[in-house]
Amino acid sequence: MACLPILEYPDPRLRLRSAPVVAFDADLARLVTDLLETLYTTGGIGLSAPQTGQARQVVVMDLSGNASDPRVFVNPEILATAVPGLVEESCLSVPGVVGNLIRATRVRVRAQDRSGESFECELEGMHAVCLQHEMDHLEGKLFVDRLSLLRRLRARAAAARARRAAESARGRQGAA
Ligand code: NI
Repeated sequence: MACLPILEYPDPRLRLRSAPVVAFDADLARLVTDLLETLYTTGGIGLSAPQTGQARQVVVMDLSGNASDPRVFVNPEILATAVPGLVEESCLSVPGVVGNLIRATRVRVRAQDRSGESFECELEGMHAVCLQHEMDHLEGKLFVDRLSLLRRLRARAAAARARRAAESARGRQGAA
């Protein structure tokens, strides 16, 4: 298992469209395991493969808060959406930014598990919102794209500030 580095906005690799997974092999199993470990290490609730530089249609999430409910969606497709609501989102690839946007709070999804088995399920609330957010990543979209231009510019500035703060913290550690 390995904790993978997460790409940060505005890295152009976050804009790639991810390819469907066709081989459900040991390589995919390792990717799923690494994505989950990375998710738990960073304290996030959802993560997509392209955020780690692998443009493949793989999403993991766990909203339990104690690593007890790992969910894996390979090649996910949304079949139906309902009950739009205003939700607050953030993203491991856009540090320091929180935005409000409209998402469906109920979705029906079809996907495959890590062994290639197809399944369908209904997701509600944060599970539904999180899946849509992660599926945007598979299309090369970020939640900040859904904000107004002004809020997008503020988000960009906040991300740059967060990046500079992280770099200077690393610099200080390096110097000590
Ligand atoms: Ni994200």
